[in-house]
Amino acid sequence: MLTVAVLISGTGSNLRALLEAAADPAFPARIVVVGADRQADGFAHAEAFGIPTFLVPFREFETREQWGEELDRQLRVWNPDLVVLSGLMRLLPASVVDAWAPRIINTHPAYLPEFPGAHGVRDALAAGVTQTGASVIVVDNGVDSGPVLAQERVAVLPDDTEQSLHERIKPVERRLLIDVVRAVASGELQLSAVASDAAAS
Ligand code: GAR
Repeated sequence: MLTVAVLISGTGSNLRALLEAAADPAFPARIVVVGADRQADGFAHAEAFGIPTFLVPFREFETREQWGEELDRQLRVWNPDLVVLSGLMRLLPASVVDAWAPRIINTHPAYLPEFPGAHGVRDALAAGVTQTGASVIVVDNGVDSGPVLAQERVAVLPDDTEQSLHERIKPVERRLLIDVVRAVASGELQLSAVASDAAAS
């Protein structure tokens, strides 16, 4: 059984979907802990499922590196097989990425490499594209630049707002995330092979 730590910053709707999927005894992964960089609303989902939580408040550390050290220390307590960034809105310091790579994945509300960064939905709307998407990637030391594990297109509608578009992207992200976690857990998808292929290309 693959053990998973999920890191969030916000409402945790994608976390919720993963918790629901993992509650099925046939699902090959279990969420062992949920962590956040701030007092995130999404903690309520973890609590509803009886999953432990930890908080490493970014603002209470002088440097990103110090914050990362504490985050890493907390993760090591649970020693998960996989770390899922599900709406964690902070860049991890290289020390954390290097410690967990390639067993660390991220969901992003755009069709990477299009529109990386903290405002993937807003940036797609501002660019006037007719299609954007959702992606699940392996985290590397760039901004949303790691190898893509799964992605799917989502249409941008003429009257879309950032919120309406994001709400249409999120169900796609959830499905992709659950599929990727299942594939990693079953051994169908090997993150080390994906990362070494990316390094070789
Ligand atoms: C998700 O759309 C996730 O992809 C995005 O934040 C949202 C979190 O929603 N993450 C990023 O933009 C990271 N660059 P949720 O808290 O409701 O799951």
